[in-house]
Amino acid sequence: MHIPEQGRSKAEIMKQLESYKAGDLPYHSGRIMAYVYDPGEEVLDTAREAYMNYLCESGLDFTTFPSVMRIEKEVVRMIINLLRGDAEVVGNMTSGGTESILLAMKTARDWARVNRPEIKSPEMILSYTAHPAFHKACTYFGIKPVLVGFDRETFQADVAAMRAAITDNTLILVGSAPGYAQGVIDPITDIAVLAQEKGLWCHVDACVGGLHLSMMRKMGYPVPDFDFTIPGVTSISTDMHKYGYAPKNASVIMYRNRQFRKFQFFACLQTTSYALINPTITSSKTAGPMAGAWATLNKLGEDGYRKIVAATQDETSKLVGGIRAIDGLRVLGKPDMCLFSFTSETINLFQLAEAMSRRDWYLQPQFSTPFSPYNLHITVNQSSVGFADALLADLRTAVEEIKNSADQLDVEVVRKQVSELISQDPEHARDNILALGGVSGEGLPESMVMINTVLECLPYSIAEELLTEYLNGLYQ
Ligand SMILES: Cc1ncc(COP(=O)(O)O)c(C=O)c1O
Repeated sequence: MHIPEQGRSKAEIMKQLESYKAGDLPYHSGRIMAYVYDPGEEVLDTAREAYMNYLCESGLDFTTFPSVMRIEKEVVRMIINLLRGDAEVVGNMTSGGTESILLAMKTARDWARVNRPEIKSPEMILSYTAHPAFHKACTYFGIKPVLVGFDRETFQADVAAMRAAITDNTLILVGSAPGYAQGVIDPITDIAVLAQEKGLWCHVDACVGGLHLSMMRKMGYPVPDFDFTIPGVTSISTDMHKYGYAPKNASVIMYRNRQFRKFQFFACLQTTSYALINPTITSSKTAGPMAGAWATLNKLGEDGYRKIVAATQDETSKLVGGIRAIDGLRVLGKPDMCLFSFTSETINLFQLAEAMSRRDWYLQPQFSTPFSPYNLHITVNQSSVGFADALLADLRTAVEEIKNSADQLDVEVVRKQVSELISQDPEHARDNILALGGVSGEGLPESMVMINTVLECLPYSIAEELLTEYLNGLYQ
């Protein structure tokens, strides 16, 4: 592929792009139970216009487009106030949950170099339920992740295990409000108290929950504390592009005070170039997402968010109750908001996801840990309100279909096959495993059932390496 010799017409370009979309999931259908946070066309229309208005303005240099800084500061202050931070609490907008978490972890590491110089090789203690973004941060910034277990019934982080894992090198304790996978809030107060006792950094990942849970609290739902009212909490991440219903890429990273936040910033005057000084990982960036988030907050207002929260919570109760009543399915933990997961001991869940996909639903496969079984995830958002009965009816039919099918794929049989492939011919194990998974290396597989089952059966290190190599090939 080369750049076209001659520029093409807008109509032609748009037609081609539209045709590319044919294989994508239908974002606005209400049937995609992950990835989607759709506020509806009226709110989106306002956000889109604001976003496009700021498409070209750059957030690179705060002196050139002062309105960009103003918009950012207003969004950040609205979120700090919602999360009950005082005037000392500060923050910035980032491109998403991952950048917010990366920044907080880098900030903690650099803060420790000055304030805890006795820590030579920093360690972060986190539960298996914390988001993979923390592992990414560990890889990027040379922090050692120390994984601890969680309660197998409640899915809450095990604070006693966290205490036991603390060493002279421990720098950060992580809590989630809630963890994405099961939608369960960790005992944040206990984690923060422990952090304070030991002089550690406590980060609360409220990427998915910050806005929704705070609205729930204001509406009188029982929500345990997770925000800046807890003294030991050092930093909190909250995404605008999830339950803030803003367009991507928009998140907020917040710190207890400026003395912590200053280690996030980067300045450089050592080149022939301009003075580079900015708060985030990216330098040049569109101000569109900031304007989009600002417009969404203003368009919805608390009243709009409350209506969405009430509707999505009702929908979630219906779904959780309905799934609990299906023989062979088991909801994991007790979800604190509108996202959750369920498992099965009787049928292959990857086959169930595929059977649901044939019925135009997307349920998200998630894998097992030493403390929990593999499962399917459901994120309920504004656009999925009203679909619970249809989803449950299809789920009941799909479960029966698989139970009665002659093609049931037993995970334990595949586990045995995989371990034989590894032990009998280690040299060719990679290719043999990919072949077993039905992956040729070109394009996405027709069905995800076998590859997901194989991934579920592989040790992490091999699965991660295989996925990396596979993706490396796909992007050719
Ligand atoms: C709890 C939590 N933290 C972090 C992230 C990462 O966010 P992003 O995908 O915006 O980088 C997610 C994404 O789902 C999340 O749910």
